[in-house]
Amino acid sequence: MSTYQDRLAAKREAALLGGGQKRTDAQHAKGKLTARERLDLLLDPGSFVELDRFKQHRCNEFGMDQDKPLGDGVVTGHGLINGRLVFVFSQDFTVFGGSLSETHAEKICKIMDKAMEVGAPVIGLNDSGGARIQEGVDSLGGYADIFLRNVEASGVVPQISVVMGPCAGGAVYSPAITDFICMVKETSYMFVTGPNVVKTVTHEEVTSEELGGAVTHTSKSGVADLAYDNDIEALRQIRRMFDFLPLNNLESPPTYPCDDPFDRKEPALNTLIPTISTQPYEIKELINQVVDHHDFFEIQPDYARNIVIGFARMDGRSIGIVANNPAVLAGVLDIDSSRKAARFVRFCDAFNIPVITLVDVPGFMPGTVQERGGIIKHGAKLLYAFAEATVPKITVITRKAYGGAYDVMSSKHLKADLNFAWPEAEIAVMGPKGAVEIIFRKDIQESNNPETETLAMEESYRERFANPWVAAERGFVDDVIDPEETRQHIINGLRMLENKAVKKPYKKHGNIPL
Ligand code: HXC
Repeated sequence: MSTYQDRLAAKREAALLGGGQKRTDAQHAKGKLTARERLDLLLDPGSFVELDRFKQHRCNEFGMDQDKPLGDGVVTGHGLINGRLVFVFSQDFTVFGGSLSETHAEKICKIMDKAMEVGAPVIGLNDSGGARIQEGVDSLGGYADIFLRNVEASGVVPQISVVMGPCAGGAVYSPAITDFICMVKETSYMFVTGPNVVKTVTHEEVTSEELGGAVTHTSKSGVADLAYDNDIEALRQIRRMFDFLPLNNLESPPTYPCDDPFDRKEPALNTLIPTISTQPYEIKELINQVVDHHDFFEIQPDYARNIVIGFARMDGRSIGIVANNPAVLAGVLDIDSSRKAARFVRFCDAFNIPVITLVDVPGFMPGTVQERGGIIKHGAKLLYAFAEATVPKITVITRKAYGGAYDVMSSKHLKADLNFAWPEAEIAVMGPKGAVEIIFRKDIQESNNPETETLAMEESYRERFANPWVAAERGFVDDVIDPEETRQHIINGLRMLENKAVKKPYKKHGNIPL
């Protein structure tokens, strides 16, 4: 007769089987790891504590009563990433295609509830054929239970989705609510309706990869933030990103010992800006020079590249960076870049991560595409996000800060704490050429020598307005700094602002222009 230990061991063994060896082999053949292999890579070795491994579905339709695998297609629990607590779920495609049943949803909800109670992030590894078809509305209800928790947890604990297989239909809305979505190239896709429905309704022929693959979502739609070549790389990078984040909204992000001198000068920055002010330069060169150990974790690197966002550390503490990139579309603000940056600023603000803003922006993108696409509302999102953020905000204007974009990019007027400008900064309503054409139109028309006169007027406008001094006179910039000393000025500011506290009047919530 077997002892209870034998029975327990046998049960545990059975729970590890998932959908069996054949389906595991099929999963591997697609270049995908299994749910448990993924958790092994995501979490510190030996730290995973599984919950609900014996849970089974309750469906008896379509012969399902004969097939009740332990765990019901999702592995859930908690573990550690570099010693810090995280709750996880990992959908097991080998069990009914990772489809979501009522009980599968209950398992996910249980760890989400616990994560909220103890204040720890949730990472979901998604690999699922969607609603468990045999369960009908019970499954749909399960999805809604998860969506509700995603919303409730938003801004309370960081939520990260890694899409490592199918994620289709309404199922996409759980990752969509989470803070970051990472996808794996070629093996994952997300869409509301798949290629077959698309063909029937719109007569478009499109593959899953083109419609909702990692490249599509990280470069065209902006739905996903990060794309990696395989499961292993994706999970490795998620561990790296996790280290920048606090466990919840009441904590500060972790600090790390930093042996990168706070006052490290970077003489190369003195010549970063080209002598001709219309010439581009790569803002990531500046970012890499000023952050600790030149280590920058970029988010959405392939989407709206005219703005750069991401995490880094300064003085050992996490910061979020938002930077116009003059190397792409001259760093102009448009719909996509405004949305991209606004969501990131709100994440940083929700989770106590100071925001460093690097400004070199010629203005907002003109044109019918932008106006009809709603640049007014989308640009307002970024303005709103910066204005509402109460984390330490430090802004460095490296070159252009023109027009409304000057206001929007974490200006003093939006309660940025410290605003610096480099000596070559141009802070004005518009560039010299445009300004002269408007304010001196009559003089130019009546001039005998319009070309020379225009140039002279441009020069005089540049001297009077296209510089940092007028803003500095008014206190709109707190200091004009040597480019090579940028790191030191930012870190001094961060140290001074460490205990910043802002009281706001009660409101239920604002109404950001969505
Ligand atoms: C139950 C499912 C399933 C599902 C797959 N399986 N999807 N079982 N419910 N939704 C099972 C299959 O029967 C099969 O079982 C196993 O999982 C693997 O599926 P395959 O089709 O063999 O795998 P593959 O060829 O890789 O194709 C994967 C797939 C396809 C593209 C995901 O399975 C598929 O199209 N599934 C249906 C997707 C779908 O329509 N879902 C509902 C969407 S609506 P065996 O026993 O053979 O291994 C939705 C609404 C959510 O999700 C609403 C939220 C508000």
